Amino acid sequence: MPTRSTVILGTGSYAPERVLTNAELSTKVDTSDEWILSRSGIRERRIAAPGEAMSDMAVAASRRALENAGLKATDIDLIVVATMTADLPMPAAACIIQHKLGVSSNAACFDINAACSGFVYALDTACAMISSGRYQKALVIGAEKLSPIVDWQDRTTCVLFGDGAGAVVIGTSDQPNIGLLGTKLGAFGDSVDLLYISHGGSSSPTTPESIAARGHCMKMKGKEVFKLAVRVMDEAARDILEQHQLRADQISLVIPHQANLRIIEAISQYLELPMERFFVNVDRYGNTSAASIPIALDEARRSGRIKPGDVNLLVAFGAGLTYGSALIRW
Ligand code: ACO
Repeated sequence: MPTRSTVILGTGSYAPERVLTNAELSTKVDTSDEWILSRSGIRERRIAAPGEAMSDMAVAASRRALENAGLKATDIDLIVVATMTADLPMPAAACIIQHKLGVSSNAACFDINAACSGFVYALDTACAMISSGRYQKALVIGAEKLSPIVDWQDRTTCVLFGDGAGAVVIGTSDQPNIGLLGTKLGAFGDSVDLLYISHGGSSSPTTPESIAARGHCMKMKGKEVFKLAVRVMDEAARDILEQHQLRADQISLVIPHQANLRIIEAISQYLELPMERFFVNVDRYGNTSAASIPIALDEARRSGRIKPGDVNLLVAFGAGLTYGSALIRW
């Protein structure tokens, strides 16, 4: 049990200006708006400008979250960034973001890579560190610039992904039983080959040949990911509800990872919870990996879909194959 409640004090998000529609994509690869929309629910996605780094998007989202929380960058003593597309292989994006924001050098700064589940992992980690009492205020960021690791010649993947960033500020409350109530995290490491990047890591460094073969881009077995995603998201949701003795109909809003509308619809059916209780923005952003849940959370709050006393369920899956669920009471 946490020693004190860890609560979300503010949220923010950022999406790059450039909109890439299905119609435009269908001029580049053999696809159509009808195919993409019917298979994934995606209409358009955002693409970062060439000089716009993942850290720039993260900083924009963080500034909005800090403003929303009524705090300054100097109040932050912990930055946890969920990403698989850090600006550089080293150092951590968190350090670059710390510097750009003007966060104190006394802040602990590190990245977490759990792919699309990354934000739930980062939230759990930051809340545990805050509830320990050793840190006071955390920025938890999910940010991705996926466009450089998308294979723009592969129609089976390039239609699905987009760029963006979301952030939350975490602090504490004396009120018991609010904020992050709990999480369920896990992974199926035997399913690495379902979604991975073959080159650019220490086991297979980038070579001219690997670049020519687009080994630096994501490869995915879409159908298998789909099936496993539906199963693990359903289980992760049920596990956390059971742990906290809640029924699905006590959840006012589910904020799922935005990978595919059909996956979200399947979870809605399995949990017997109508789609009105699910926040969906995959139509506008596609899959932004670790950024998807914090962007959705911010949009849900700013559009008035979250009220004091509400309980939200976050649920995600991603490459690894990782999964995570979290319950938040406001
Ligand atoms: N446009 C037109 N046709 C296409 C396209 C496209 N963009 N992509 C594939 N097709 C074709 C295929 O070649 C296939 O043709 P065939 O029958 O002649 O072989 C046909 O469409 C059907 O393809 P499927 O793969 O069976 O399509 P499916 O209904 O499974 O949908 C999709 C594919 C959208 C990828 C789905 O499987 C999916 O969403 N999977 C989950 C992906 C996912 O969520 N990934 C993110 C993981 S999270 C992370 O960590 C990044």
